[in-house]
Amino acid sequence: MCKFFFYENPVLHIRTMSQPIASATTAKQLQGAIGVFDSGVGGLSVLRAIRAALPHEHLVYVADSGHAPYGDQSEAHITQRTLTVGNWLAEQGVKAITIACNTATVVAAKTLREQTHLPVVAIEPAIKPAVALTRSGVVGVLATRQTVHSAAVARLVALYGADKRILLQACPGWVEQVERADLHSAETEALLRQFITPLLEQGADTLVLGCTHYPFLRDTLARIAGERVTLLDPAEAVARELTRRLADNGSLTTQTALGSVKFFTTGDVAQAQLAVTHLWGATAQVEALTSD
Ligand code: DGL
Repeated sequence: MCKFFFYENPVLHIRTMSQPIASATTAKQLQGAIGVFDSGVGGLSVLRAIRAALPHEHLVYVADSGHAPYGDQSEAHITQRTLTVGNWLAEQGVKAITIACNTATVVAAKTLREQTHLPVVAIEPAIKPAVALTRSGVVGVLATRQTVHSAAVARLVALYGADKRILLQACPGWVEQVERADLHSAETEALLRQFITPLLEQGADTLVLGCTHYPFLRDTLARIAGERVTLLDPAEAVARELTRRLADNGSLTTQTALGSVKFFTTGDVAQAQLAVTHLWGATAQVEALTSD
């Protein structure tokens, strides 16, 4: 059942259309952490870059797996989910929100930014760096259906790719393989070949990983594409931008101990636990985040 209502947060002055969600963890435990979210486990590729850049910060990650994949859903649904998760993170007292999902960024980052005073750092397809790198003049952008059809990507292409060929390629099915942590099977390889072969045949020498799930397919993609093709993942740039924003507003942690990392999912906890443990590379406790 989907309940919509206007939620007013008196402390943060967030007024947003969102759906209430809750977890057993109290807000106090997440106070001052950095909030990171994606439709599922793909955003862990951004989380690991943030962890490497800011090891002393406390991190809280939300996989909105109960509502994934975002890439095949309506803009209204993606916006509602982005506001719902963003609002929950704000209520927990996080000091910044990172949108680790290109689809949520291109559809809803602007709306989220309008509704919170928190710094919002959002990943987007690395079209600008790809244009700077290509030697053949042909760039492939691999992303979800919503991302390749978005106005935001059309703007990036117009802004940076006017004198290049930018091939936008939706890759249905890839997200599901990563959610199952099925990164190397023959089925996964066939699915990757199906969508990148036409780009390679048209001369693409640079492929933008425009969905945060895709860096987990990097090994297989690199093997198919060959060493002359560059694969671009902007996760480290996102971590640098986040660091810069926290430094600018004086909110970088001063603690010297390693920060904690907490994982939440709106989907099946056991499945998320398996996928997070596999992709994060350490046993992870995933907590349920349920609709009220
Ligand atoms: N990981 C998300 C992205 O970067 C999308 C996955 C989905 O379709 O849910 O776009």
